[in-house]
Amino acid sequence: MPTARLMFDPRLPIGAVNRRLFGSFVEHLGRSVYDGIYEPTHPTADADGFREDVRDLVRELGVSAIRYPGGNFVSGFRWEDSVGPREQRPERIDLAWHSTETNEVGLHEFQRWLESIDSELVLAVNLGTRGTLEALDLLEYANLPGGSARALERASNGRSAPFDVRMWCLGNEMDGPWQLGHRSADDYGKLAAQTARAMRMFDPSLELVVCGSSSRHMSTFGEWERVVLSHSYDDVDYISCHAYYEEKNGDAASFLASAVDMDAFIEQVVTTIDHVKAVKRSDHVVNISFDEWNVWYNERFEKIDKITGVDNWPVAPRLLEDAYSVLDAVVVGNLLISLLRRADRVTSASLAQLVNVIAPIMTEPGGIAWKQTTFFPFALTSALAVGEAVTTRVESDTYDTAVYGTVPTIDAITTHDAEAGTVSIFVVNRSQTDTTTLEFDLSSFSGVISGDAQTLADDDIYAVNTLAEPERVSMRANTSLALADGAGSIELPPVSWTVITLRTR
Ligand code: AHR
Repeated sequence: MPTARLMFDPRLPIGAVNRRLFGSFVEHLGRSVYDGIYEPTHPTADADGFREDVRDLVRELGVSAIRYPGGNFVSGFRWEDSVGPREQRPERIDLAWHSTETNEVGLHEFQRWLESIDSELVLAVNLGTRGTLEALDLLEYANLPGGSARALERASNGRSAPFDVRMWCLGNEMDGPWQLGHRSADDYGKLAAQTARAMRMFDPSLELVVCGSSSRHMSTFGEWERVVLSHSYDDVDYISCHAYYEEKNGDAASFLASAVDMDAFIEQVVTTIDHVKAVKRSDHVVNISFDEWNVWYNERFEKIDKITGVDNWPVAPRLLEDAYSVLDAVVVGNLLISLLRRADRVTSASLAQLVNVIAPIMTEPGGIAWKQTTFFPFALTSALAVGEAVTTRVESDTYDTAVYGTVPTIDAITTHDAEAGTVSIFVVNRSQTDTTTLEFDLSSFSGVISGDAQTLADDDIYAVNTLAEPERVSMRANTSLALADGAGSIELPPVSWTVITLRTR
């Protein structure tokens, strides 16, 4: 059995783990909202029409902030349609997903739902088919305490206190040719900077996110970030990154190493941010909001799901409803390790998305809601990655991949909560054949008194949870964890994600 060695030292912190790293994303897309979080005829529906069983799962998932209402959807969205008396709200076609938006759920309903799960609203403005003025209108409607026509309108729509939205996304994926209102980096950079400055005239303390690349594999990647930031650097706080991964052509070995790509993406964006900072002689720090990331079988969507036809605009169609396997969940767990590894610069992130649409939670209309495999690494990382991410090194075997060359078999990150006296180790085994024994030194902790571990693994790496079998895959206690004489060890099965919790007092 191969052996790997893990070294970590709480005296070498990377950075505080920002709760916003465990954000998610709800887009008006497919059954994410309608027949997802919202289903007024469901037996568990509350007075607003939101499903209580879904709310319970979202709470358990531990999402800190939710980006809303898109995504590609936002680039054709008129926010005014989604407020006011429900019966007067217009139905609109949504060009991004070729669907009908009923506007039954809008800003007010969504914010009430967020308050009930104790999560923060992150709003995206439409900089695709709209501009600075409409963004300002929405900001005034959402955040002005009182006085203006917009604030009065909000009050007459049932909310006199402002929404006080802190974090705003300046458009969505403006580098993508598929985006309504897609622009060059130069044009978008100027528009984003102008909008950011205007929004800051309203409130200088807003946290603003400018669009970075929608993938590291866009032909404009790198130059897009440089040009956009050269226009907007001192006016924004974050630049976004988006990344989706999928197993292609049965190449599980490369897919398992997806985090190698995410690591490189983060490093290259940080380098570009800091280059612009140096050129501008700025003291301001821009960080990364990794505001869309996940496994997504996009090829399946392009070939099978895509809706067409000028007379065909369904409401809440089944779109992007990927069923996630154990393999997918291990990759998701590894992507979380990547985000934590740069907790110093990735200070916000959103798992895309939350319910039904490439989601950790699935629902059946009138029926049950269940956890996908990817629910587990997200929920446990959100719950246990507390305090500071600390420098972590792994010595392990390597293996060869077609896409990323030779990569380590074992990848890990450690967090340390000094206040609670706990250490969490998050670790993946990417080998498809070998169980690895992971050994670690605990001498920098005077008194580790106990620990436990949970592992996600299965003899069938393609096992999924479904409506028929919603609990086929779940976490299991890993009883191989051994702690003695300032050292520990654990067995990591092939294609697995594990979290080890150590208590030092
Ligand atoms: O999350 C699904 C889509 O992926 C989003 O609408 C878009 O921003 C990205 O391309």
